[in-house]
Amino acid sequence: MTDLAARFRQLWDKIAPVGRDAGSGGYLRYALTDAELRLRQWFREQADRRGMPVTADGNGNLFAWWGDPGAGDAVLTGSHFDSVPHGGAYDGPLGIVSAFLAVDELRAAGVAPVRSVAVAAFVEEEGARFGVPCLGSRLLTGEIAVDRAAGLRDAAGVSFADALGDRPAGADPGLTGRFTAFVELHVEQGRALVETDAPVAVASAIWPHGRWRFDFHGEGNHAGTTRMADRRDPMLTYAFTVLAANKEARLRGAHATVGRVAVEPNATNAIPSKVTGWLDARAAEPDTLRGLVEAVHAKAAERARRDGTGLTLTEESATPLVAFDGGLGGRLAALLDAPVLPTGAGHDAGVLAAHLPTAMLFVRNPTGVSHSPAESATDADCAAGVSALARVLEELACR
Ligand code: GLV
Ligand code: MN
Ligand code: MN
Ligand code: MN
Repeated sequence: MTDLAARFRQLWDKIAPVGRDAGSGGYLRYALTDAELRLRQWFREQADRRGMPVTADGNGNLFAWWGDPGAGDAVLTGSHFDSVPHGGAYDGPLGIVSAFLAVDELRAAGVAPVRSVAVAAFVEEEGARFGVPCLGSRLLTGEIAVDRAAGLRDAAGVSFADALGDRPAGADPGLTGRFTAFVELHVEQGRALVETDAPVAVASAIWPHGRWRFDFHGEGNHAGTTRMADRRDPMLTYAFTVLAANKEARLRGAHATVGRVAVEPNATNAIPSKVTGWLDARAAEPDTLRGLVEAVHAKAAERARRDGTGLTLTEESATPLVAFDGGLGGRLAALLDAPVLPTGAGHDAGVLAAHLPTAMLFVRNPTGVSHSPAESATDADCAAGVSALARVLEELACR
């Protein structure tokens, strides 16, 4: 094992147990809950050890500064700590751990920043607790209204403002205006690098994507005494809609997933009164995505008429197509001699890309699996990711 891979492992092992579910082996690191708060505390300690002052933006995002936090232009890196339910170890934390190690590498080589480097830990990137992904970066850039963000509630009814301990501060153009670039390092969430000899790639684009909530209303009643002909069962409309989403996505070469469902009253012996399904839909082109969601909605509405159920559709979040800054991406791909890939996964980098030159580095994932405990990366590839990020920070902040 190289020295850098060993240093990576040593630091990684410090956070590996935090929020890990012994049963699934996956992580339950929801924003601003105990596990994520412990990681944020770890972030502050790591920054302290390196003499990096930490600032907060009042939206739940933290920044550890290599160089003066108040000085002119700065280069932003980092990622997020929060996970999806039973998520993998690397999605998010890899970008933060790699950033601290990249700073260590540069310092050890005697390189100093000409522009400050900020390592970010963004809050609620996955939207697993409050429903809107990239909530922290959306607030920072003004892409979501403060009132809406403050009032988002988790499954227990706790609002984002209450979890944060304050009303979010909202957009900070003074801060975002100072960043000359954002480079987020992330585990690759597909198999694109598996058959190649490249441990690191540069991102070209993020597919447009969003979340749509389908509320199907019916009539709760007794499972044993209600004649089949008399039922208004929203579970049927829901089930049909899941199949329709799958079919419509396949027809278009798009992706549709219903990974979350809530049933009321959720009893084996009761016809549900209400079923809510959340559709996650993504496509390479915005028109394809719009066509997909419209087709699923039309089919669901038609089916609801036949089932005697009601349907309301709510768009919970939408992220447009992100074409990362070609100039910056091309420069980094040339610098690192790395392949360039698009992705269907969302990232804070996708939100920030509308406001400043932004790029992403992907670290090879041998399973290709993500949002699952099976997500993986070798220590050697993680070390290659750290080296790549160090070269990028040197290029952008130290010359
Ligand atoms: C976040 O990781 C997403 O792509 O949903
Ligand atoms: Mn994720
Ligand atoms: Mn992520
Ligand atoms: Mn993501």
